[in-house]
Amino acid sequence: MALLYIGIDLGTSAAKLLLVDGQGHIQNTVTKEYPLEFPKPGWSQQNPADWVKAVMEGIPELLNGFDGRLVTGIGCGGQMHGLVVLDENDQVIRPAILWNDGRTAKQVDYLNNEIGREKLSALTANIAFAGFTAPKILWMRENEPENFARIAKIMLPKDYINYVLTGVHCCDYSDASGMLLLDVKNKCWSEEMLAILGISETQMPKLFESFQVVGTVKPEIARKLGIPADAKVVAGAGDNAAAAVGTGVVGKGGCNISLGTSGTIFISSDTFGVDPNNALHAFAHADGGWHLMGCMLSAASCNKWFCDEILKTTDYPAEQANITLDKLGRNRVFFLPYLMGERSPINDTSARGVFLGMTMDTAREDMVQAVLEGVAFAMRDSFEVAKSLGIHIPAAKICGGGSKSPLWKTIFANVLGIPLEIVKTEQGPGYGGAMLAMVGCGAYESVASCADALVEVASTVRPDPEITARYEEKYRQFRKIYPACRELFGELVKE
Ligand code: XUL
Repeated sequence: MALLYIGIDLGTSAAKLLLVDGQGHIQNTVTKEYPLEFPKPGWSQQNPADWVKAVMEGIPELLNGFDGRLVTGIGCGGQMHGLVVLDENDQVIRPAILWNDGRTAKQVDYLNNEIGREKLSALTANIAFAGFTAPKILWMRENEPENFARIAKIMLPKDYINYVLTGVHCCDYSDASGMLLLDVKNKCWSEEMLAILGISETQMPKLFESFQVVGTVKPEIARKLGIPADAKVVAGAGDNAAAAVGTGVVGKGGCNISLGTSGTIFISSDTFGVDPNNALHAFAHADGGWHLMGCMLSAASCNKWFCDEILKTTDYPAEQANITLDKLGRNRVFFLPYLMGERSPINDTSARGVFLGMTMDTAREDMVQAVLEGVAFAMRDSFEVAKSLGIHIPAAKICGGGSKSPLWKTIFANVLGIPLEIVKTEQGPGYGGAMLAMVGCGAYESVASCADALVEVASTVRPDPEITARYEEKYRQFRKIYPACRELFGELVKE
């Protein structure tokens, strides 16, 4: 009988669940949305109980019409960096502070300038960014001392789901890398970093490779979900590492672009390496290796914001219908996509969104186009950092909600000047989670062999030399906008 695996993408707007058979075919999908709170400008929180509800209700729905007894393994790719804190009874102490939360500017400044970038980079291979977990722990220590004193365990979002399923406090190396607490090179908690934050290793979860089994599903949970109690749960991965597995970006020199709520460029490697300027993150990968990554805080979310909130429509294809190929590289309107501040490569929590260049004849679609292009230009900034490190990226995979738009993929291919490949399954992190579960359950020897067997390219979008040349000039202009606005952004956030 064919075995079944469950892949979970614990995202920022929803949990996307996949049921995959042993041949890698997707049998069913369920999406369960949950709210995102912005209690103050630049703050971003979520209630871990909402994630649990989504998974606990989603799995029985996913299995509707299937034999749940065949579920063999579960693997989760989760939104990274979110601070989940549990008390001594394993109860959640406060809402999770998410990856795109910008409240920690002061703590980031302390870490980068008083502890010092060099020391942070030597200990963890990275410097502090507002979304990373360590500055959030410092923020709690300073602003919520009574909560801080109650912390028994510090976890990341998908680790909390794994804990609920298995009762094991665990974390994988890819996700742990984004905490600024892991010695990424040696794959262990950095005692010195923990001391800097005033926490101890007993408060940290046990570390695993992403494809390692952390435990089996607790009997009472298994009963509720309709799956066997010996179903194995693997450690899983940060969503970007899981997405890279799902698109077959493993081993040496692959590149995956994720155009989701965040926008990331992910470069896989079989050896450890650090960006000497720390503009790109140096993290462990879910295949046992490492990767470099640039992360934009607002990517597909810029288009969602502009359409949903400003234009008051959810018909994105209709908004893009008039943006024909001849218009690419000829738009006179620019957009800076820093709606939640920005991480890579500028690391500026004060940065904000900007439209520039409108005239009386500017049309609605010019502004939509500017939004799509602004996201691609900002991604190019991280792409340029990678190139400056001598990394050759001849082509990339692309995944995430934004990659469903043929126009946006074309804009990206031309702004970056490389072919972009779309894989058959199109389900980055969830599919990667299911693949990690297959490896953990012994169906494949390694993540690389699983990717070789299951991941197939379905189509390729190639750049057009004329459009690429036009975008070169536009990108040169785009690059001048942020430096011209930087000082004013700083003034605006003080108001
Ligand atoms: C990566 C990052 C985001 C989140 C989105 O560093 O912060 O891509 O993982 O879920």
